[in-house]
Amino acid sequence: MRINADRLHESLRQLAQIGATPGGGVTRLALSSEDRTARDLLRRWLEEASLHLRVDDFGNMTGRRAGSESSAAVVMASHIDTVRCGGRYDGAYGVLGALEVMRTLNDLGVTTRKPLELVNWTNEEGVRFEPAMLASGAVAGRFSPDYVADRTDRAGLRFGDELARIGYKGDRAHRPGPVAAYLELHIEQGPVLEDAGIPVGVVEGIVGITWSEIVADGRADHAGPSPMPLRRDALVAAARMIAGVDDIARAIEGAVGTVGRIAAEPNVINTIPGKVTLSVDLRHPDAATLDRLMAALEHLARDVTALTGVTIGVNRFWTSEPTPFSTEVVDAVQAAADALGIATQRLWSGAGHDAKYMQEVAPSAMIFARSVNGLSHCEQEYSTPEDLEAGANVLLYAALRLAGIEGERISHTRG
Ligand code: GLV
Ligand code: MN
Ligand code: MN
Repeated sequence: MRINADRLHESLRQLAQIGATPGGGVTRLALSSEDRTARDLLRRWLEEASLHLRVDDFGNMTGRRAGSESSAAVVMASHIDTVRCGGRYDGAYGVLGALEVMRTLNDLGVTTRKPLELVNWTNEEGVRFEPAMLASGAVAGRFSPDYVADRTDRAGLRFGDELARIGYKGDRAHRPGPVAAYLELHIEQGPVLEDAGIPVGVVEGIVGITWSEIVADGRADHAGPSPMPLRRDALVAAARMIAGVDDIARAIEGAVGTVGRIAAEPNVINTIPGKVTLSVDLRHPDAATLDRLMAALEHLARDVTALTGVTIGVNRFWTSEPTPFSTEVVDAVQAAADALGIATQRLWSGAGHDAKYMQEVAPSAMIFARSVNGLSHCEQEYSTPEDLEAGANVLLYAALRLAGIEGERISHTRG
């Protein structure tokens, strides 16, 4: 039993046309018109695969394939929103890989014992509406429906209004689950598998992530008549913060730190910047070390304020704790790859995924396909057709192990 690789690649190609960028990537921000067009295509594909579609109050789309038992489902999921100028595979691969598993089971006339569900999570990236993994976090009970609906983008548009605008506001009763086990197929987005010469990763957990917003409050003034010693330039203070974040992360083994967005006001050539807002993304596999990184950031803010006279506020608004996956589901993924004769390596994810919140709901794990040059969240993101095929076959076999096959006492996926 194998997935149809040509069909998977053709679906990936078609989805990548929605929001395609001139540089070969994709911009398909959550709840944008591009997201709506992509959802409409996915909806058509789910219907063509005879999956029963339901949409919940956060816009999560669930396609269900009945099992012979009316038990909790084995859920396969990811997301089709992207970052700005992102790649074609981050998220899309997991959703279309799950769709390909459903199509393959249809072709072969296989009925699983447990039902199978495919989920497209809303706003995984957190680029348009911060924080990331918003809708899976809400399903896991981490965010209230009001909190989700009230998230605003940089233009002040509300999540709740944009969800209604694109026509994907559904019903609370239509949330995914109940979930027996959760699987997420994804590209690695890092260099570990490529360095090891291994096509598929068995993911044992997700690192801790914390997001903060920094506001540097200085004083706007004319760029000409203002002598240097009298200035309180918010952008100069922000520059010291940016360099400091890089220093902080470099000083701790396994840590990463990024300032990814910045806005200077009034952002004109001949005015000293009065206010600068920037984001800080800090990550580490260990929760206590993540707290140490945050303490260093607060310390840095105090130092920069003392040096520049610019007030620096640090607001830590989201933390996704380090999350080890379930041994049972990790073992199912490993056994699936072994049965297929696919070489694997164990690793942790440096990127956030909805599997983080789903692990709080049900036993979960992830499958990674190797990324060429380890690149992601950029237009150059790429994985070979062969590696994508291998990962999707591991998803198929792992799902069958967890769901069981009707009429078989011993799953014939067992190697
Ligand atoms: C999501 O892609 C994240 O890791 O920020
Ligand atoms: Mn992703
Ligand atoms: Mn991503």
